[in-house]
Amino acid sequence: MVKITAVVLAALATLAAARNCTPGLDYCGYILRDIATGNNYDAQMKSALRKLGAPVNESSMTHGLFYCIPGGDGDVQALAICANGCLNGGKERNDFCKLP
Ligand SMILES: *[C@@H]1O[C@H](CO)[C@@H](O)[C@H](O)[C@H]1NC(C)=O
Repeated sequence: MVKITAVVLAALATLAAARNCTPGLDYCGYILRDIATGNNYDAQMKSALRKLGAPVNESSMTHGLFYCIPGGDGDVQALAICANGCLNGGKERNDFCKLP
């Protein structure tokens, strides 16, 4: 019984750590990587960038702006690559591209 409880707790802790984005909000790539565990958002970000027709490299991954699709289970859509960098809008707020 003790063992089973430990396994369940470990599973719950993993879920809590690998947080999804908040549906309907815009995120900088580096913020998505922040809320992910390790690089587990990278695959989705790369496929979103490809759909946008954007280059997939370190700068588009970091300074891309991504929309968290409602009901998408944490899926993201790439909106733009911020030419001047992407800014953190704060908790529960949209991130945005820095203006020139
Ligand atoms: C990423 O790709 C874009 C477009 O090809 C290029 O302008 C940019 O310099 C690249 N950035 C890096 C860090 O490789």
